[in-house]
Amino acid sequence: MWRTECEDTADSTRLLWIAAGNDLAHVGGVGKAACYNESARLKLCHEGFFAFMSTLLKDYSHYVNQGWADTLDALGTVPIFVKAQGDRLYDTEDNVWFDFIGHYGATLFGHNFEPLTRALKRALDAQLPAGAPLGITTLAPNLAKTLIERLQLRGNWNNWTLSTGAEAVEAALKIAVSSTGRRKILVRRGAFHGLTAFTLQLNDRTFWRKGYEVLTESVLVDFFDDVDEGNQLLASEHYAALLVEPVQAIAGGRILNADEADRLRTGCTRYGSLFITDEVFSGMGRCGDYSAMQALGWRVEPDIILLSKTLTGGLIPSAQLVVRQALFNAFTCRPGCSKLLSSTFSGNPLGHSVALEVLAHLEPVLSDPEGNLPQAHFTAQLSELAKAYPTSLVNVLSLTNLHFLRFTTADLASEVWRYLHANQILTTICSHQPDTLKLICALGQTTESQDRLYEVIEYVCEEASNAG
Ligand SMILES: Cc1ncc(COP(=O)(O)O)c(C=O)c1O
Repeated sequence: MWRTECEDTADSTRLLWIAAGNDLAHVGGVGKAACYNESARLKLCHEGFFAFMSTLLKDYSHYVNQGWADTLDALGTVPIFVKAQGDRLYDTEDNVWFDFIGHYGATLFGHNFEPLTRALKRALDAQLPAGAPLGITTLAPNLAKTLIERLQLRGNWNNWTLSTGAEAVEAALKIAVSSTGRRKILVRRGAFHGLTAFTLQLNDRTFWRKGYEVLTESVLVDFFDDVDEGNQLLASEHYAALLVEPVQAIAGGRILNADEADRLRTGCTRYGSLFITDEVFSGMGRCGDYSAMQALGWRVEPDIILLSKTLTGGLIPSAQLVVRQALFNAFTCRPGCSKLLSSTFSGNPLGHSVALEVLAHLEPVLSDPEGNLPQAHFTAQLSELAKAYPTSLVNVLSLTNLHFLRFTTADLASEVWRYLHANQILTTICSHQPDTLKLICALGQTTESQDRLYEVIEYVCEEASNAG
């Protein structure tokens, strides 16, 4: 049953949602997994506290989101998180939950990293305007210059700030369609580019849009798997853009390597399509460099690069569209039509302030050859685990602050995930590759959290090998 749910759903939290109403009685299970539920039950004996929790849950269910409350309930425990710090979340009972999700990748420096919260407070105290209607803001040029320099881009580039990753993807495709006059977009299978009606079309797994397909039928999107197929399709000269993630996290860490990037770049240039890389998740330190393209040693540059998540540390929504200047000028100077790519909250200087602080803190980490050493220890630990349990854990792929653990089956991955959750360790399953567990780490992920995670996975693998 779990297998089917995994195949059909998104990451594990979304998976949980679908699992509502199913038989999750064995969650919490035996052995270590049982420990949490038992201690939680003891703590809950305080009557007033129990009444408070119960009212909160009821109100959440009634006024906010019954489906989500039911889903969590089915998992056996509904933590109410009240505080987040570093790699930890704290619930109402002051239980520590170790976090390997990190706000879906946004909290590279950990939750509420003090230099970032301080930068945000400073920006608030400075009484900056929220936006700049009929004017410009002070921080945008500095952020643009710094990003372009850190991405080591050659030639002339611009950076335009938007609000969310999906908004940035849509903006990039607006530029592509309007500059080429073409109607089709080419996307790699397995990718994820957002959940708006438009970006949902860029996803080859149809379950994401089930029930509202009618909203997602306007754009013509084709999908490719390997580079040869991609280039064959590009040769039709029908595509405004090729859109790729250098690392497809949701597909279990599927990489587009430097040679593949070379060939696709050649195809795009030859057949007149823009080459767009979506680094909303993989960029700005996640994979050990400013972009996954740099981390993977790409020799070619795309035409547009999209960034978000880690750049504002989960504190404020902000996304960046880094675009070749000639393209952006052509778009913004078009006569007789709207040149706007943004929405009300785009370009907020609070986001710029935090992003500049993130870049200042990334610099020493990424320029120091030993900067990645703390992550290297955990990487080695995970490889050891794979060596010790080859019949359970078939592959570990580590990209500095991002790890993919591929198990023999989706059922086993799901079992590991549930045991981790029962032991207050938060992880996700890769929605498009449900046999793979994803660990999204903070730069300062503690040894305690890593050891706890290791222990639980080792326990489940050991049980699996004993079971035959
Ligand atoms: C690669 C990628 N692109 C785009 C998005 C959409 O970003 P947002 O959720 O900010 O709209 C995401 C979100 O997870 C993503 O991982």
